[in-house]
Amino acid sequence: MKAVVDQDLCISCGACIDVCPEVFEWNDEEKAHAIVEEVPDGQEEQAKEAADGCPTEAIKVS
Ligand code: F3S
Repeated sequence: MKAVVDQDLCISCGACIDVCPEVFEWNDEEKAHAIVEEVPDGQEEQAKEAADGCPTEAIKVS
């Protein structure tokens, strides 16, 4: 599974980092980005939860 944050849509709410810090962190622009290209085993549910919980639907998981 891959996770990508659309930098144009992220409004820096931080929910994804709260839900899934193993995958998402702040970047230098104070927006979230995915630390890893592939979501690690055991983190898929959290990554999906982060995508569902993002208020601007900035996170795409596939
Ligand atoms: Fe940004 Fe959405 Fe995360 S607004 S900080 S990608 S929950």
